[in-house]
Amino acid sequence: MAQVMERTLLLLKPDAVQRGLVGDILARLERRGLRIVAIKMLQMDEALAHQHYAEHRGKPFFHQLVRFITSAPLIACVLEGPHAVEVVRQTMGATDPKKAAPGTIRGDLGLDITYNLVHGSDSLETARREIAIFFREEEIIPYKRDIDRWAFGPEEE
Ligand code: RTP
Ligand code: MG
Repeated sequence: MAQVMERTLLLLKPDAVQRGLVGDILARLERRGLRIVAIKMLQMDEALAHQHYAEHRGKPFFHQLVRFITSAPLIACVLEGPHAVEVVRQTMGATDPKKAAPGTIRGDLGLDITYNLVHGSDSLETARREIAIFFREEEIIPYKRDIDRWAFGPEEE
């Protein structure tokens, strides 16, 4: 069966950049076989943070979350592959790094629920919405790699 590709938004949060963990985190996801099809560095402003985290508006941690995510530059990427949404979420581990399984990004590298290193879209629908917040269509570069057929087999045309 040919694989159906998904795209998901990954943020390497300000703590990942400040701690020098960008390479480590991206390497884990590249090693799983996902393709990076868009990537940029930016510092989120309050309006962008409110838009991205709209579902959390009004929650007790919202203010702290916005302060943290806007506090320093971050890296936004679009990752592509079969079941990319679920694969990225599983590789990230639970929201609270204390509860995240060893072997996951948060379980290996994190300690605190705010400073939890990464964001990944939680559904295909969310992914579409979030990717559009960070990237224009022409900033997403589709391509194939020779290794792909060994990582996940043929792709649906
Ligand atoms: P993210 O959206 O950042 O990928 O994280 P997530 O899906 O695993 O968690 P979510 O429920 O969407 O929460 C978004 C971010 O808010 C912070 N948070 N703090 N203090 C708290 O109880 C609390 N709960 C959530 C986390 O930084 C989480 O990543
Ligand atoms: Mg979330």
